Amino acid sequence: MSRTFDIQDLVRENVKGLKPYSSARDEYVSDGTQMIFLDANENPFENGVNRYPDPQQRGLKAVLSEQKGVSVNNILLGNGSDEVLLDLIFRAFCEPNKDNIISLPPTYGMYKVLSGVNAVENREVLLTKDFEIDIEGILGAVDENSKIIFICSPNNPTGNSFDEMAILRLLNEFKGLVVIDEAYIDFSAKKSWLKRLVEFPNLIITQTLSKAYGMAGIRLGLSFASQEIIAILNKIKPPYNVNELTQQRALEQVSIRDILKLEVTEILKQKGTLLKVLSEVDFIQKIYPSDANFVLVKVDNANKRYNQLLEKGIVVRNRTTQSLCENTLRFTIGTQVENEKLICVLKELA
Ligand SMILES: Cc1ncc(COP(=O)(O)O)c(C=O)c1O
Repeated sequence: MSRTFDIQDLVRENVKGLKPYSSARDEYVSDGTQMIFLDANENPFENGVNRYPDPQQRGLKAVLSEQKGVSVNNILLGNGSDEVLLDLIFRAFCEPNKDNIISLPPTYGMYKVLSGVNAVENREVLLTKDFEIDIEGILGAVDENSKIIFICSPNNPTGNSFDEMAILRLLNEFKGLVVIDEAYIDFSAKKSWLKRLVEFPNLIITQTLSKAYGMAGIRLGLSFASQEIIAILNKIKPPYNVNELTQQRALEQVSIRDILKLEVTEILKQKGTLLKVLSEVDFIQKIYPSDANFVLVKVDNANKRYNQLLEKGIVVRNRTTQSLCENTLRFTIGTQVENEKLICVLKELA
């Protein structure tokens, strides 16, 4: 960025002066030597989870740091990426009843919910009809209290990734933070913004283990940003914000990357099969390009088709009430067996 950027200008006043809670396990970090732990009022009888978890998730971060090519000091982990977004980014940077954020509907619904929860105005700038970013619209909506622009790429529910040059312009011209939600990046052939993290002091990237990594049930979200931003978020995070079972399970799963890659390849193969069939279903009027593990389609009557699928035992997402998404359904790509069943039912209904 050409102009000087100081993250402290964006931090909420109460957070600036805050002294974080120092937990027992922050003050003493085990080096593996056998010690007697009488510092945290735990039950001393071992059962695998009687001790508090590592508040900084050092083991897990070390593996993720290597896999993602990002220093551990640029990583923050949380209980799902929603929590990282909600509890931390909003609370660190947005002054309630004063600041605003920009979101780009149709997009992931949590940005709006989170802004409501945090009493932060949500300025919505619709995507264009082709589901691209309306740069001029965004720059026109921004004022001195605009703290964050949320960009979901690949976008949920539309499935497309946004133009790199458009995002670049926002990173360069917007004076606040740009959060790029990459929940679906592992399904996409497009490059993650992680490689360019060091170039932008106002960039926060969020990812999740809930999608391609196959761990929605353990709740683990990842944030990547400058050391300064991560330090601010660390200051306000709940002390033990990733539980022991999640840390253990995540470590096991992220270590079997080859299997996860095979699963992603299989999901993309099933997506290809489904796409071919969708184009032959007469009540499907449009199939939107997708870089994710789901496909958005426009149908003749979304409510009717949604209910018909339900009756056949298939639950999809009806997105008809979303801006620019009238009569659309979103299909997540399942296993081959699930996909074959869906295809069979779609042909029956056609
Ligand atoms: C774009 C996007 N971001 C974040 C999430 C939530 O991720 P997590 O399970 O890590 O809270 C979702 C879930 O559907 C999503 O679609």
